[in-house]
Amino acid sequence: MTHFAATASDNTIQSRGRVSDILERTCLRDDFVAVERTMLERISSRSEVLHDAGVYTVRAGGKRLRVLLVLLAARMGTYDFTRAVHPAVAIELLHAASLIHDDLVDHATSRRGQATIHHTWDRNVALALGDFLFGLAARELANEPDPRIIGFYVHAAQRMVEGELHPVTQILPFEDASAQYFRKISAKTAVLFEAACKSGIAVCGGDERIIAALGTFGHELGMAFQIVDDILDMTEAASILGKPVGNDLREGTITLPLIHAVQRSSDPRLRKLVVGPVPDEDIATLIELIVDAGGIEASYGTARECIERALAAIEPFADPLIYRTLTDVTDIVLHRRS
Ligand code: IPE
Ligand code: IPE
Ligand code: MG
Ligand code: MG
Repeated sequence: MTHFAATASDNTIQSRGRVSDILERTCLRDDFVAVERTMLERISSRSEVLHDAGVYTVRAGGKRLRVLLVLLAARMGTYDFTRAVHPAVAIELLHAASLIHDDLVDHATSRRGQATIHHTWDRNVALALGDFLFGLAARELANEPDPRIIGFYVHAAQRMVEGELHPVTQILPFEDASAQYFRKISAKTAVLFEAACKSGIAVCGGDERIIAALGTFGHELGMAFQIVDDILDMTEAASILGKPVGNDLREGTITLPLIHAVQRSSDPRLRKLVVGPVPDEDIATLIELIVDAGGIEASYGTARECIERALAAIEPFADPLIYRTLTDVTDIVLHRRS
């Protein structure tokens, strides 16, 4: 895997550079920056703590991948930023809200390279800010005349909440464990990528066929994105990720690398260690066992299959420039390190 070859900072700079190239080539840079500005404008509240914590969240940045997807999908129609800005802002705010609540559930202390909201303030502030951002996102869509867009948003929001609670309880047999896992990540992550792509094209005049194709693209890309996230939780440095590593194992969360590893290896140490939350001192050993069993390689293989399905869905609809650009996005997702 070339993934391990470059240094982490090289890779991070490279992937920022590639997003920058995409924005340049598609003439989306100014609009991408305007989404950022609009998000900051929206974070105003009569509550000082909500305002401060909201600004802290937006200023921390993040990859803004869902914003990029809304704008690129919009580019596939009759591009109109005055329409695309609303789903772009709403979906990124919904994403931010879900991360704040997720960090609470996952007991995570860092996110985007800074302390999490519940760690910096407290859990009440984290709950309130998450709810506030969910609300702000919905309000943003009140500006959008096409009722399908709020429909995409609500569908995603409902599924994400359900997804956070879908348990993956089995590690064997492989078919059952992976079915539980795919169901969970479809709901908690892929539906939002799907909503981003569908909203972008829908507000820019795309017909039902292209909306469906971009929906499939977004969903498959989101599946790959979460699989890579679950890999990085085992293979990457916390300083690069900007969030804790090994947290899934620590929390007893069963993810695909573990499921693949258990299917491929009968090492009794692997089976013994994977029952429930893993103590800190065993995490490094367990990760080594997962790597040795081929759990990481196999998971990259599954992510690549998702990407192939994503690209196959949009190929008939994308002109060469957009197809190459969306291929670059899939490549960034697959090879990212943060
Ligand atoms: C993190 O998403 C949550 C997952 C779906 C794995 P991102 O990795 O896109 O988070 P930011 O926005 O870049 O911080
Ligand atoms: C994704 O799962 C969380 C959401 C979709 C809200 P993770 O728990 O793996 O995300 P990170 O690793 O904390 O970003
Ligand atoms: Mg988490
Ligand atoms: Mg994760």
